[in-house]
Amino acid sequence: MRKVLPVKKLFLLLGSLWLGVGGAPWLAEPRAKAALGGVAATDRPSRAIVEPSYPDLAANDEPTPRINGPRVIGTTPGREFIYRLPVTGAPPLTYAVTNLPPGLSFDAATGIIRGRVEREGATPVVITARNRQGAARATIRIIAGKRQLALTPPMGWNSWNVWGTAVSDEKIRAAAEALEQTGLAACGYRYVCIDDGWQGRRAPDGTMQPNERFPDMKALGDFLHAKGLLFGAYTSPGPFTCGRYIGSWRREEADAQLYASWGVDYLKHDWCSYDGIARLKTLEALQQPYAVMRAALDKTDRDMVYAICQYGLGEVWTWARKPAIGGNLWRTTGDIEDTWASVSEIGFRHSPLAAFAGPGGWNDPDMLVVGALGWGEPPRPTRLTPDEQITHMTLWALLAAPLMLGCDLTRLNEFTRRLLTNPEVIAIDQDELGVAATRRDAAADGTEVWARPLADGRLAVGLFNRGEDMQTVTAKWSDLGLTGRRAVRDVWQRRDVGAFDQVFAALVPPHGARLVIIGGRLPSGPARRKAASPSQP
Ligand code: GLA
Repeated sequence: MRKVLPVKKLFLLLGSLWLGVGGAPWLAEPRAKAALGGVAATDRPSRAIVEPSYPDLAANDEPTPRINGPRVIGTTPGREFIYRLPVTGAPPLTYAVTNLPPGLSFDAATGIIRGRVEREGATPVVITARNRQGAARATIRIIAGKRQLALTPPMGWNSWNVWGTAVSDEKIRAAAEALEQTGLAACGYRYVCIDDGWQGRRAPDGTMQPNERFPDMKALGDFLHAKGLLFGAYTSPGPFTCGRYIGSWRREEADAQLYASWGVDYLKHDWCSYDGIARLKTLEALQQPYAVMRAALDKTDRDMVYAICQYGLGEVWTWARKPAIGGNLWRTTGDIEDTWASVSEIGFRHSPLAAFAGPGGWNDPDMLVVGALGWGEPPRPTRLTPDEQITHMTLWALLAAPLMLGCDLTRLNEFTRRLLTNPEVIAIDQDELGVAATRRDAAADGTEVWARPLADGRLAVGLFNRGEDMQTVTAKWSDLGLTGRRAVRDVWQRRDVGAFDQVFAALVPPHGARLVIIGGRLPSGPARRKAASPSQP
């Protein structure tokens, strides 16, 4: 175990203060030096460092095509299906799609599959993407059937953590455009969700009307759908939302029909003022409002992912996916904040909940608090350090958590872009086996090892350091159920590290994480027993 000298900590602190609103992604550079044990004068942040390098975060900028996104997607026969192929690579890209199920068609100019699948069943659809640099091919299974939504955790953006109740049509459109321009949509982020603050008054006939910041919801839905993105809305089972806007109490059916007419694809149903109605928090009382909205959604002709938000009351993960509720994701905790205390306390408590997550229903530890955030105040950079952000994203991918961004996407810096677009990290989150990670080892020094099995038989492993000093974290095969010599790949750096036997160990900065994939058993041969830090050359 190596200690970071106090003087180094002081530099980091002064550096953070000095950089203020600019964020401090440069920390990745001094940290790599610290991993080598040096605390040289060059560790001091310099004004010359404007756009830092990110030795520990590989970019997703290969020119060759890559087909991102889940390998399995669900839909209900007869209902609208929209899927924008998430493909990265140098433009111009051309696409070909074969073996679409009857009812769907593909627009090669936009790269969007649309239509309504006619019959139940699973169809392997083959997608090819080409550019001057090469071609990529993937098979995606489209599963048509009842209740087949969210077969992998939803990915997208939600307005709350940046705009609070000051959300508007204009800001939602800007977020959708930024999803495209930053390359996030090409990585699979596709839900664009309005949170609290869109509601106006009810018309005399009871119809809910958006407020003046949302002149035309149907047009907004059409705008998103034209891009192949999906539309998220928000309401509450109580008379009011948490932001004191009007909720859906006793109007669930009409509201669900209205959302369907706008083209809503995802509904967050947020407990809030229902507290005043369900005074006795019996299990029945906790479930009732969610069953009412479930029934209302079932009466529409539209697929809507159902996001249950009640902060984990009554151990919601034990009942949210039963048919009468049909939740596709459920918040497991209160609201996340962009502090280490909040992110680590929420994220690391999920090991006992892993068994409740799986295709169609996911534990939701709340949205990602990286990038420029504000909750309605002028957006400012997340207060998480770069290492804390790497831990946040690593843990959420291992937990098979929904990846909902909450930041101002028009101001994405290079560090955040790399953090959110690493295709191998996203592929872990979206793995079709859908088994969430559990804690495999934890030591008194704050080091922890978590792992989740992947559909291809490999194991995704997180090495975490919750302590305040640089420490070596060791993943032992005995804790992971592995034997023999195994190939290890560093996922954040996107490089193969070598073959290892019995253990893989890495030096991990305070509050930081390494994410590796351990492959199948190799024939015996030279293998290192212990690894140096993957950040060392
Ligand atoms: C609750 C939810 C948040 C957000 C706000 C909106 O606090 O947990 O995610 O939706 O309400 O008021």
